[in-house]
Amino acid sequence: MEQEPAKRILLGVTGGIAAYKAAELLRLLMKQGMEVQVAMTEAACRFITPTTMQGLSGKPVLTSQWDTGMADGMAHISPSRAADAIVIAPATADFIAKLAHGLANDLLSSLCLARNCPLLVAPAMNREMWQSAATQRNIAQLLADGVQVLGPDCGMQACGEEGMGRMLEAGRLAQDIAAFFQPKLFSGKKILITAGPTYEAIDAVRGITNRSSGKMGYAIAQAALEQGAEVVLVSGPTALAKPRGAQGVDVVSAAQMFEAVQQHVGDCDIFIGVAAVADYRVAQPSEQKIKKSAAALTLELVPNPDILAHVAGLPDPPFCVGFAAESEDLAKHAEQKRCVKNLPLLVGNLAQQAIGSDENELVLFDDSGSHVLPRADKLTLARLLMQHIAQRYEGAYK
Ligand code: PMT
Repeated sequence: MEQEPAKRILLGVTGGIAAYKAAELLRLLMKQGMEVQVAMTEAACRFITPTTMQGLSGKPVLTSQWDTGMADGMAHISPSRAADAIVIAPATADFIAKLAHGLANDLLSSLCLARNCPLLVAPAMNREMWQSAATQRNIAQLLADGVQVLGPDCGMQACGEEGMGRMLEAGRLAQDIAAFFQPKLFSGKKILITAGPTYEAIDAVRGITNRSSGKMGYAIAQAALEQGAEVVLVSGPTALAKPRGAQGVDVVSAAQMFEAVQQHVGDCDIFIGVAAVADYRVAQPSEQKIKKSAAALTLELVPNPDILAHVAGLPDPPFCVGFAAESEDLAKHAEQKRCVKNLPLLVGNLAQQAIGSDENELVLFDDSGSHVLPRADKLTLARLLMQHIAQRYEGAYK
């Protein structure tokens, strides 16, 4: 699977107090591997200096359409030709009005009108300005013109009023921009994912669990959503927030996870078992806290149902993807699990580096052999994994 070339963003900054957040957005976009060229309006330069944006992007900032330095003399066109998308953040009420009416009386509005690539805007303004009939008309016009509108958010505003109109936080914007570029490979498909650990009670306060954080499973849910799927995320206890748009089902024990999966598996196209499910549970958990004594304590453990094996064995199973965290002989154990559970695809990872960490390395095992997804953050790996699943899924149902 080849890495996509870096996306090129033309980041337009207009004159509102949220302009200071554009610096953080620029940093986050570059951290995601995007190439960013910044263009600022005259008003934006009163809130944040081009020097800051140049320092972060490593490129001179575009501020004037009368710039004679542009090789082809087309300062109002060329930068948009070199971009995969233009992002305006923050987009003031005034700039949104310009876009809606096709005005091109400064560099940034000219670049937007002359563009041949998608346009994304992140509105930022006082709540009354946002609610005004004129702004709502302009936003409706932008949506009708195919412009992507990101936000705004609700909350405390710089002016001291509270309501709708705040620009989305830089982290959320960076995530939405990355999601915009994901291929919509799973449109119309329903994907059921298990994630996190399970907790098997010993008594009222103690239990058996493991160190799975849920990060890998939640990243896969996020990537599946970005690629157009409807996602049901069945999760054991974790500290993570569910990805926006996922239907979350919280469970504690393996038995509860099994029941939730049975409830949702009926109409799903793909099942991905990322959860670290306890293989055993205590046969007779005590309702009261067990008292300490000098004698040894023996717990009787009984096997839990294997959720993945059950789903893969259904008469008309969804496309099943299993995971295996191994501490040694990854290839041998992963292939064994794939055969025993009769899976078209199994994802192997080394337990020591996978559990709880932000980064991972995956090895994909299927009928064609094995394929390594080298070390990266879990969301990057999840996006690549979903692209691999899309190919296999398509092949399996041709
Ligand atoms: O949550 P993180 O901190 O990000 O860590 C991610 C992870 C390491 C937990 C994840 O990447 C991973 O490897 N999950 C599988 C853990 C494992 O080794 O599972 P297993 O070998 O016990 O089971 C193999 C497969 O069967 C898994 O898909 C599992 O979900 C499934 N299974 C297992 C037992 C059981 N009773 N029911 C199941 O469905």
